Amino acid sequence: MALEAIKWNENKLYILDQLRLPLETEYITVNNVKEGWQVINKMQVRGAPAIAIVGCLSLATELSQASFKDKHELLETICEKLQYLVTARPTAVNMKKAAEELTSFTKNLYNDKVSVTEMVDSVISWCQKMLNYDVSTNKKIGDFGADSILKSAGGKNVKILTHCNTGSLATAGYGTALGVVRSIHARGCLDQAYCTETRPYNQGARLTAYELVYDKIPGTLICDSMVAALINSHKIDAIVVGADRVTSNGDTANKIGTYQLAVIAKHHNVPFYVCAPTSSIDLNLAVGKDIPIEERPHNEMTDIAGIKIASPGISCWNPAFDVTPAELITGGIVTELGIFKPAELADKLKA
Ligand code: MRU
Repeated sequence: MALEAIKWNENKLYILDQLRLPLETEYITVNNVKEGWQVINKMQVRGAPAIAIVGCLSLATELSQASFKDKHELLETICEKLQYLVTARPTAVNMKKAAEELTSFTKNLYNDKVSVTEMVDSVISWCQKMLNYDVSTNKKIGDFGADSILKSAGGKNVKILTHCNTGSLATAGYGTALGVVRSIHARGCLDQAYCTETRPYNQGARLTAYELVYDKIPGTLICDSMVAALINSHKIDAIVVGADRVTSNGDTANKIGTYQLAVIAKHHNVPFYVCAPTSSIDLNLAVGKDIPIEERPHNEMTDIAGIKIASPGISCWNPAFDVTPAELITGGIVTELGIFKPAELADKLKA
């Protein structure tokens, strides 16, 4: 059975608690927007697409239990709750874009001749559709990425390196960069997928490694500090990563450590791909330095599973993301609409 990070059943929302993986598999119920905000902020669910889906579904489950005196009250409530959800984590743009789209969808309903109940039902159904839409988007990304990487490899099986977790756990299913790995594996062309540990939160060691084992995809875990040595000794064919926000010029914010991978890739002439749905692309921002970078609590660096690993008293800097400049994204930006060079991204998407 495919791994499901998000379950939606009869207006009830359940998420797989990613703080407990890989040791425990426990689903928790998200009953309302406040709890949606909390599970996103605490990173019980994480990954840019999953954040937006869980945020919107937390609103859907709350709406299904509430009653409203009129359409105006419903519209105000939806707008206010969506704005609140956007504040849970600042770097990934997906929740912000979903909030804008759902707000405009709700405003159109408000102006239509529909009842309050019909308006609630339509908003719930809009949110629910995000699940299937995300999976089909990811499969397209997977196929576009696989086509490009396998074409460059000229018929031989490939070794791919990835960072963080961009798989079923970070999306509604299949994954973006890990979807590319999945797609290559499904074609029988994957020699090995290498995943970085991804300090400090260990999404690679805890989550990507878990997905690779779960789906019987040949995988090898490395520490973040081993990337240059791996590339120097193992003939890596491509590096694939996800994105939390891609700006108009192609600069890309993704999990901390992505930038150093791209620098190493450039030095060794390894194609570097960013794999992301268009919902992660923010054409309103010109360049990567405009992206707000979330800083996380220091205990995520100093402690692992409640055990102190750093000397008490040391000060810490813990940015959750970094920005990879467009010119290092040599393979291209793989979206559900195709693969684009960073410089052509904005024009292609506006067309
Ligand atoms: O802090 P996280 O775990 O939410 O960061 C996740 C990433 O950086 C992913 O690479 C990105 O969100 C894309 S997930 C398909």
